[in-house]
Amino acid sequence: MHVPVRVGVIGCGNIFRQYATGMSRFPGLELVAVADTDAARAQVAAAEAGAAACSVDELLGRTDIEVVVNITPPTVHALVSEQVLAAGKHLYVEKPLADTTAAARGALDAARREGLLFGAAPDTFLGSAGQTARAAIDSGSIGEPVGATAFVTHSQAETWHPDPTFLFQPGGGPVLDMGPYYLTALVNCLGPVAAVYGTSRIGAPQRTVTAPGRLVDRIDVTVPTHTAATVTFANGVLATVMLSFDVWDHRLPFIEIYGTEGTLSLPNPNGYDGPVLLRRHGDPDWTELPPAVPPLARPDSEEQLLRGIGVADLAAALRTGSPQHATAGLAFHVLDALESITVSADTGAPVRLTSTCERPEPVDGTYGAAISLNTLEVHP
Ligand SMILES: NC(=O)c1ccc[n+]([C@@H]2O[C@H](COP(=O)([O-])OP(=O)(O)OC[C@H]3O[C@@H](n4cnc5c(N)ncnc54)[C@H](O)[C@@H]3O)[C@@H](O)[C@H]2O)c1
Repeated sequence: MHVPVRVGVIGCGNIFRQYATGMSRFPGLELVAVADTDAARAQVAAAEAGAAACSVDELLGRTDIEVVVNITPPTVHALVSEQVLAAGKHLYVEKPLADTTAAARGALDAARREGLLFGAAPDTFLGSAGQTARAAIDSGSIGEPVGATAFVTHSQAETWHPDPTFLFQPGGGPVLDMGPYYLTALVNCLGPVAAVYGTSRIGAPQRTVTAPGRLVDRIDVTVPTHTAATVTFANGVLATVMLSFDVWDHRLPFIEIYGTEGTLSLPNPNGYDGPVLLRRHGDPDWTELPPAVPPLARPDSEEQLLRGIGVADLAAALRTGSPQHATAGLAFHVLDALESITVSADTGAPVRLTSTCERPEPVDGTYGAAISLNTLEVHP
């Protein structure tokens, strides 16, 4: 029997509860301490999660903590990640890996040098939808993939996040905030990106925040909020990608992949489960594919927003040596592709990527065999 992996969390903001609740589904993970530069927030989070509240230094100094989850804002991801690795802890960080690839490199190098595991969000591709789509592509159900579309529409953060400022500044915007879910889902299915071309603009230069309990009333927008991009995958697939915080209403799909023999339609990659639809040329209608791994929760339920599977994935790799899926290497390549879209939009020239990655291993039939020691407890 394995000893639970003891986890500390740095950053007790809006997403903290989704991590605390989400990780509590995995008996192999034990959240023991939380820290935040805002000590009051750490106190509240600690009381909610039944963990200890401490300073960042105290948390990093605790010898019982093996894995630290970094859920600070994107602009401090790299700094906090480097602190965690310097303390000799394994690390899991929220998306984006960092606000720039240059900032992300220090932590990647440190993890490699110190032999520490480094995982990164998003982990949603480990859910039944991502795994079903991947299996469908790999088994040739749409023939040879030729094209794809991905549409990131407005997450309307100013209506629900108490302080969404970081989402409208460099490090945020639809490209870095929501892009990782969509690009990671596509890389999981199609492999690495070779080149990108992008154009972008700011929609409204100021936004009104209407979230209940808001901490700010207005936001100055200093990052593009509408981006149109072409993404060329190394396997030759051409994807048309829109990333926008200006599209409030629409009738667009989330992600579709077009092959020589059919089309695959994927659900929202910000969740784990949902219908994956296939229509082969000549089929009278769409068919919903049976899930390749058991779903975690009802599609569109609040549970789709819980997080922690990627942490369990890392913990399993730590205890059993099983392959890690939601890796920082994958997240770095996705960040590189997204950053390159922005560079292309700024310069007007296409960008050929210098990074690449392996497609993550598919999760085998025992969903979370990757996370087997954690024996996922799914609440209906
Ligand atoms: N909010 C969501 O629904 C959501 C969903 C998925 C992913 N994420 C990602 O999770 C991360 C956090 O998002 P959030 O919405 O919780 O942000 P937030 O601003 O609500 O919370 C971030 C917390 O980090 C703390 N912090 C800042 N700098 C710190 C430092 N150096 N050391 C310790 N603590 C520090 C802040 O005081 C704050 O409490 C972001 O990367 C975001 O993209 C958020």
